[in-house]
Amino acid sequence: MPETLTDTPEVQQLLRRAAGLDQPGGDERLRRIVHRMASEMCRIVEEFDVTPTEFWAACGYLTRLGQANEVGLLVPGLAVETFLDIVIDEKERRAGLRGGTPRTIEGPLYVADAPLERGEARLDQDPEQGEVLFVEGQVRDTAGTPVPGAIVDVWHANTKGFYSFFDPTPTPQSPYNLRRRIETDAEGRYGFRTIMPSGYGCPPDGPTQQLLDQLGRHGKRPAHVHFFVKAPGFRKLTTQINIAGDPLLHDDFAFATRDGLIPELVRRTAPAEIQARGLNEPFATIKFDFELNREAANLPEAVVVREHAKAA
Ligand code: BEZ
Ligand code: FE
Repeated sequence: MPETLTDTPEVQQLLRRAAGLDQPGGDERLRRIVHRMASEMCRIVEEFDVTPTEFWAACGYLTRLGQANEVGLLVPGLAVETFLDIVIDEKERRAGLRGGTPRTIEGPLYVADAPLERGEARLDQDPEQGEVLFVEGQVRDTAGTPVPGAIVDVWHANTKGFYSFFDPTPTPQSPYNLRRRIETDAEGRYGFRTIMPSGYGCPPDGPTQQLLDQLGRHGKRPAHVHFFVKAPGFRKLTTQINIAGDPLLHDDFAFATRDGLIPELVRRTAPAEIQARGLNEPFATIKFDFELNREAANLPEAVVVREHAKAA
């Protein structure tokens, strides 16, 4: 006698039919995945004695999550986006790949086709009071050879933790504020001037924060800067650097902090340095070099295809 209702022949047959497993045609792998998902839902209902009212409340929640365009927030909040990285890391390791800048999650706030600049760029278009930050470095291969012509696609939040295009405040930012693509120079170098970001927080009245509240968790991220780094013949890198010293550095609701991605933040207060940069206040600098892996046929796909917002 099966111990659970889910395992009875009647329910097993229902689940097989629901996933199309008793029919030819369709996509075999998808049918198996759907079968597993439906079966796990039945097991959860049974094991946790989920009532129909609770079940429909969960369905309503998922509907609201989609309507609020927050699926891309909840997935990293439940560590699943980080798990996808862990899976690719492991496939690369098994394929013998070593070295390279660590990857970390993309998150849901990228906007495609930011303005392209050569060598150096200024990211802060909209005037804001905050600490000026200079970030510079080199893109190299794993043997230390510079990669000229690489595209460093960078994006980050403003001093209030909001991203352009997704900014909900009454005075939203310009579409590409704090977003640029920078082509590395002949020595593989890139550099940009910007304004120190603050950490992002989930919309306080949104469905993601609603669930996090019920889990007793906060929905905040430490301050960080995102990058895609691409060059012909190399694996695309998706990563972020954290701003050292942020109190949430190791308490990121999206689980994106990784060793090797917390560069030193240097505060520059010497009048000569301030003057040399054409400023009249202390500023901060970060040096961060990227190490790209060469593409090879035996490696898992490094390009993640997902829907991206377009500002224009
Ligand atoms: C972010 O990059 O800021 C982000 C990542 C995951 C969820 C929400 C925001
Ligand atoms: Fe971010």
